[in-house]
Amino acid sequence: MKRTILTIGIASTVLVLSVQAATNKEIKLEAKSAIIKLGKTLKGEVAKSMKAHGPQSTAYFCYKSAKSITKKINETYPKGVSVKRISLKNRNKNGYPVAKDEIAMLKKLEKQIKEGKKLPKMIVEKISENHYKVYKPIFIGKKCLVCHGDVQHRNKDAYKTIKEKYPNDKAIDYKLGDFRGAFVADIIK
Ligand code: HEC
Repeated sequence: MKRTILTIGIASTVLVLSVQAATNKEIKLEAKSAIIKLGKTLKGEVAKSMKAHGPQSTAYFCYKSAKSITKKINETYPKGVSVKRISLKNRNKNGYPVAKDEIAMLKKLEKQIKEGKKLPKMIVEKISENHYKVYKPIFIGKKCLVCHGDVQHRNKDAYKTIKEKYPNDKAIDYKLGDFRGAFVADIIK
């Protein structure tokens, strides 16, 4: 009898654990595909505009369209899924996170970089039973320097437009490979 109870106990623990593991993996996959969709779309639109119209018009394009593109892509996600970009050195005033846990996460990631650690590709945080936040760090690539780089690297005309539209811009003086912020996927199951 005792042995049966023990066996059932172990079996159900294993079952619960494996369900839990599958769920976490599922959350990661769902977040990854949503984040990649937004990231690819934004990068693609910026690249297209750069090629056709150059840096200054593209800076204006980002000012005009980053929000609406983000909204449009969010509308294609399954129910309960949303993605945004956050940064402690933000350009758009809404780019600075309002949630305490998001600020804490960005600070933690910054600290890890200062300590010379390599950041994980994605970080899953369980907020409550059915609520997750998945972070994907964003780094500065060569193309980003045009609008986010230091005075030697950024485009003067593009930055003129940016300064006009975002007088409190903090998103400059980045170097290649710098930590810029993160995509956050909010997932409610
Ligand atoms: C042509 C100029 C331009 C280029 C190139 C560019 N950005 Fe931006 N970026 C902007 C503008 C303008 C905004 C503000 C958009 C808004 O109002 O939502 C912005 C906003 C952001 C934000 C949102 C957070 C914030 O600070 O408001 C992130 C993250 C970001 N850029 C990262 C990047 C990365 C990474 C690259 C390179 C892959 C890049 N940007 C290339 C102009 C640019």
